[in-house]
Formats: sequence, C-alpha cells, structure tokens
Amino acid sequence: MKLTVRRHQEGKSYDESFDVASLKVTTLLAALYEIKAKVDETLTFDAGCRSGVCGACAVRVNGRETLACSYTPQDGDRVEPLNYHPVQRDLRVDKAKAQETLKKVLPRPIQNPKSKIQNPPLSPKEEALFRLQTDCILCDSCYSACPVLAVNPDFLGPFALTRAWRYATDPRYTTDEPQSDSKPKSSILNSPFSILDAVQTNGIWDCTLCGECTAVCPQHIDPKSDIMQLRGESLKAGYNDPNLSTQSFGAPDFGGGFGFDPNAGF
Ligand code: SF4
Ligand code: SF4
Ligand code: FES
Repeated sequence: MKLTVRRHQEGKSYDESFDVASLKVTTLLAALYEIKAKVDETLTFDAGCRSGVCGACAVRVNGRETLACSYTPQDGDRVEPLNYHPVQRDLRVDKAKAQETLKKVLPRPIQNPKSKIQNPPLSPKEEALFRLQTDCILCDSCYSACPVLAVNPDFLGPFALTRAWRYATDPRYTTDEPQSDSKPKSSILNSPFSILDAVQTNGIWDCTLCGECTAVCPQHIDPKSDIMQLRGESLKAGYNDPNLSTQSFGAPDFGGGFGFDPNAGF
C-alpha cells in the first residue's frame, strides 16, 4: 500500500510517497507512527489519545478532514495538513489562531453579588439542549473544511459558532442580572445579547450554509444547524440579516441595462 504525505520541512513543501505494505497498520495514525519508527524519523504529526477523543490528529485525506486515529488507510491515499492553519512541520499545524475565535464567543457568567447560587444545577432537560455541542473536541476539522475561510480569514468559523449556540442555550449564562436568587429561566429568553452581538460580524450571516462543517465532524455535531438557530434567535432579538439589506425588493428595474425601456411604448 502506498501513502503520499504532503511534507513541509525547512521552508520547502513537497509530496513524498511511502510504501507501507510491509508495515503493520490498522489506522492512518498507526501508519504514520510506523513510517516515523522505521522509515523516516523526521516525519512530524500530532497525536494524543489515539482513540478519537483529543482531536489532536486531524488531517486531510484525499482532501477530506478526518482523524488519523479513526481512519483506515487505503492504497493511494494522500495525506495533508488542515487548511487555514500555519503549518509548523509536515502534518503539524498551529491551531492557536483558529482557536482564538472561541474567546470572541465567551459568555459573561452570572454575576450577582446577592446570589448564593452562582452555578445553579441544571435539569436533564436543560442539559440536553447543548449536550451535543459540548462534545466538541476542537479537532478543527470543520474550520479546515469551511469554504468561507478561504475568502474571509476573519470568519469566526463553525466550531466557535457552535460554541456560541451552546452558551446561548445554557441557562447558567446571561448578560442580565438574575431576576432572583434562583437561576434565571433561560439565557436565550432573558438576554443572550452579548453572545448574539458577538456573532453578527464575521459570523452567522457570512456562512453559506453549505454543510461541509457538519459533514466532517467526527463528533456528529451540526454547526450548520447551530448557525441557523443563532440566525433565528438574532432575528427574533431584532438583529437584521445584512445580506437582505443589500437586496432591492422595490419595483423591478427594466431600464437600459437589459435593452428594454418600459416607457418607450409598444
Ligand atoms: S455551513 Fe457555514 S460554517 Fe459550515 S462549512 Fe459551510 S459556510 Fe462554513
Ligand atoms: S465541531 Fe466537530 S469538527 Fe468542529 S472542532 Fe468540534 S469536533 Fe471538530
Ligand atoms: S489522537 Fe486523539 S483524536 Fe486522534
């Protein structure tokens, strides 16, 4: 079995093929470890748990994001680092900039000096609202798969927007003072404005709803759906879709651009 790896070493980028037929491999990550141990010790990649939990080993295989520790390699596979991340060496990327986006969607925790309940317990029903989003392992696969980042590097990106929705549905977070010493009814109903504010620019309205983020997520999280939910809540809270404000819903213009003058008479 032949495996091609996109390498980045000492300022040079090039493809290198490895014959892994004689190596014992069950996963792509095992293949990379075998190559490193038996063929080229300089091959560089990231890994941690080796069991799909830590998110460290995400790469692209034949253009599709996947966790190397969960993927069974096929003959002819081409392995590359994630998109939109500075490559440090070979398959190792710097995730710092992408994960900075999380700081932009941080909620302000409940701060009520009179309250004895700073961290009210949640009911199972409340927990279920954001259980899936909490499973994000920050593998950055969705970020790498998102076409918007190719044209707007400041786009918050799918996992940060999923995180925003996770906080928006968590009743422990609100920008208002709690109405009593008991927990607030719901952050999304009380006042999610700091979170909704944070996702208006370079956020929910820039998404094309292509669904690539959802397709690659190893945790089966659905950032596209979370973005649609944030859009709905934003409209309810009085924010506007800036894409609509650039469109005209007035009388159609049949002027000279189409070579047709409605006042010319028939
Ligand atoms: S649905 Fe939106 S956030 Fe997800 S990949 Fe497409 S453009 Fe990016
Ligand atoms: S949402 Fe899914 S694909 Fe995106 S970073 Fe989290 S686990 Fe990875
Ligand atoms: S090594 Fe942790 S997810 Fe692959």
